Amino acid sequence: MTHTPTIPDEDVAPAVANLETIVSLSKRRGFIFPSSEIYGGINAVWDYGPLGVELKNNVKRAWWRTMVQLRDDIVGLDAGILMAPQVWVTSGHVAEFSDPLVECLTDHRRFRVDELPGAEDLSPSELLDPTVVERLGLKCPVDGGPLSPPRRFNLMLKTFLGPVENDAAVAYLRPETAQGIYVNFRNVRETSRKKIPFGIAQIGKAFRNEISPGNFVFRMREFEQMEMQYFVRPETAAGHFEEWLARRRDWYEAWGVAGGRLRTREHRPDELAHYAKKAVDVEYRFPFGWKELEGVHNRGDWDLGRHQEASGQNLEYFDPATEEHFIPWIVETSAGADRATFTFLIDAYREEEVRGETRVSLALHPELAPYKVAVLPLLKKRPEIVELCQRLVADLRRDTMAVYDDTASIGKLYRRQDEIGTPWCVTVDVESLEDGAVTVRDRDSMTQERIPLEGVKVAILDRLAAARP
Ligand code: GAP
Repeated sequence: MTHTPTIPDEDVAPAVANLETIVSLSKRRGFIFPSSEIYGGINAVWDYGPLGVELKNNVKRAWWRTMVQLRDDIVGLDAGILMAPQVWVTSGHVAEFSDPLVECLTDHRRFRVDELPGAEDLSPSELLDPTVVERLGLKCPVDGGPLSPPRRFNLMLKTFLGPVENDAAVAYLRPETAQGIYVNFRNVRETSRKKIPFGIAQIGKAFRNEISPGNFVFRMREFEQMEMQYFVRPETAAGHFEEWLARRRDWYEAWGVAGGRLRTREHRPDELAHYAKKAVDVEYRFPFGWKELEGVHNRGDWDLGRHQEASGQNLEYFDPATEEHFIPWIVETSAGADRATFTFLIDAYREEEVRGETRVSLALHPELAPYKVAVLPLLKKRPEIVELCQRLVADLRRDTMAVYDDTASIGKLYRRQDEIGTPWCVTVDVESLEDGAVTVRDRDSMTQERIPLEGVKVAILDRLAAARP
């Protein structure tokens, strides 16, 4: 693999030209809101509304299904956000997990060096060069004032445990979920009796004091990761790495993202995180450019080796076949639940002309859609129709997310469901009272078919099952 991305930058148009389209849909329909909005918000924290929490839960469920449920060699874990502070010293995060920053000497605002105009393409070592500000004539982008030389700014968020707020009580909010897996390696291996190669998967919150958060939920200070650590024999790590990279890229496509808007890009040696021997990002063509969606990393024996040394506990694996003791190497797949949710939302967005009007729809994979089915009465003034709808929706709800809506005309109700990605609408009309059949409308083709009322639930559940990768 070369360091050149698999698709050149300029070749692919984003699914949505303007990010604002997704931000406003999210707000209007209840996917994502600014956090603490009534107090003016808090930078880089976002809240998921009624539809957003369904979508994100479905994304996490899809990941868990692929990474844990369908695999014999991977088990799950849910470790604490707070960990022994020594974990972060050993892992290298206290010393290394930082961005180079400059400070404006007049208004004291701080900026990431790589986001200043003229410094975007510098290598990590150039970004920390003490002469870089002077050499490139960098200025404060807000008031044009002079800037300090760059210095490292640690991204971990700190808190205090216990009643005393001093250095001895400092704890960190984890900046990655991975360390919870490493410190539980022995517990999980012993209790699950898994043999190498095997993996441990985890979904959970992570926190980073990002200096320049932005682009909606792309870079947040509180976010969720979906990480899997695969423990392997050292000489097999390179092969497992390639297999996982291909699987993880394909996962997004299997759940609906257009393959042409996905690519892989290998990190240059000077870009690698402190723990990585090799790293390749799965990138997506966001409206603001090609950006990292997920990272696949070969972490070697960095983590288990360091934790063994610092804790004094034996973290080696004994291979009964070869009678060898060794520290397993780790191939990590590290995805963001928010970034994945954001990607599915952007990529599903469609606008088309239908009978002289713009139809907006979200062509989400049916399993990811917040509601799978909406039950709509053609005439809400007929109590028998409404009653039949209520019975149907109550039955559907026992097995899936279903919603009833009678607050507009049928055309408007369809458009509302299209816009939030509901794959099927079931309409009950006057004829239904006589022939016991209802109309099922498909979100993407807009075709309608008449099916017996008692067959609706099975038909919807069958279609969902058939669509699952
Ligand atoms: N354990 C390795 C690790 O954390 P990373 O590349 O720093 O690697 C992995 O992060 C993934 O976590 C990213 O690809 C992204 O999807 C997500 N992520 C990282 N920082 C984020 C942030 N500030 N906001 C939202 N998602 C983030």
